[in-house]
Amino acid sequence: MTKRIGVDLGSSFVRIITDDAPVFCAPSILIRDRDGTVIASGIAARAMVGKLPKNLEEIRPVRYGAVVDRDACSQMMQAYLEHLGLSSRLTRPDAVVAVPDSLSTMEREILREAFYRTNIRKVSFVSATLCAAVGAGLQYRDARGSLLFDAGGNLCKTAVISLGHVVSSGVLKGGGETLDAALAEYIRRNCALQIGQQTAERLKKTVGTAKFARTGAPIVVIGRDLKSRQIIRKAVTPELVLAAFERQMNAMAALVQKTLSQTPPELCADIGDYGILLCGGGALLSGFSQKLADSCRMRVTVASDPGKTVADGLRRVLMTGREEEFAL
Ligand SMILES: Nc1ncnc2c1ncn2[C@@H]1O[C@H](COP(=O)(O)OP(=O)(O)OP(=O)(O)O)[C@@H](O)[C@H]1O
Ligand SMILES: [Mg+2]
Repeated sequence: MTKRIGVDLGSSFVRIITDDAPVFCAPSILIRDRDGTVIASGIAARAMVGKLPKNLEEIRPVRYGAVVDRDACSQMMQAYLEHLGLSSRLTRPDAVVAVPDSLSTMEREILREAFYRTNIRKVSFVSATLCAAVGAGLQYRDARGSLLFDAGGNLCKTAVISLGHVVSSGVLKGGGETLDAALAEYIRRNCALQIGQQTAERLKKTVGTAKFARTGAPIVVIGRDLKSRQIIRKAVTPELVLAAFERQMNAMAALVQKTLSQTPPELCADIGDYGILLCGGGALLSGFSQKLADSCRMRVTVASDPGKTVADGLRRVLMTGREEEFAL
């Protein structure tokens, strides 16, 4: 029997489902040399970000939910298939890929081509939105409006679902990585300190907050002083970290309002009652759900392990053999 795998090809993380094994999760990053030879992928590649000599390049094969570098995407997927023991020509797996509903036919074909260059035999697509609804445990088949908000790496997606279908939806270019960039830029402008992408993400995860500024001692950050060009330690106030996220958080709240403005009133009434279901790794930012709840004046619930919501739903879809229902 042909093996089937599920793939959530995110801009920040690739998640692969095989049998009953835990979800395989690796960063969507590849490091190549000038000849195109793969030097590292996944976690090893991520550790090299911002530290590369000139002969190596960092490639992010997936941007805004679409494959932007077909060859690099193939190389990255092949590396992950090898890691999972799925690279034997004798057992070529079929892949069911969860993609944003907004992905164009052309974008889907590029993804398909990228996967066909690996050991994958056949590719089919399912709705990442509906997978997220399943993964989050929503009663998505009921005649009841549910609003799902997926805060991903560089895309935020909203969808109102009723009777098993997406009724209205919205997309915002920006997500967790945009918050990292905003934090780095804010520190550069306000503290004259240049920090790297990895440092910014670490800072966001450890002391970042979208609502309540951390009280207590200032946060010490290592970076390049823009005046002296020396590497120094500088104290950054918690208020500054909070302020850095303000603009992006407002854009996310505006996305919810825009989606609701395109949603029939009966469904908006349901959403008013039940609130918003939040998923995506970005939802793990401290204070994120409270900030969204305040801005939208709605209850916001965070899915358990929100980065994995789409993958969890995809696993259920595969296990119950209901791909047709979710097919794009
Ligand atoms: N504890 C945390 N605090 C704040 N942000 C976090 C935390 N953990 C993960 N993130 C952020 O979540 C983002 C990745 O989210 P996710 O895994 O949903 O992305 P993705 O599915 O690859 O992206 P997309 O769906 O946009 O293609 C990253 O920007 C990461 O920094
Ligand atoms: Mg995602």
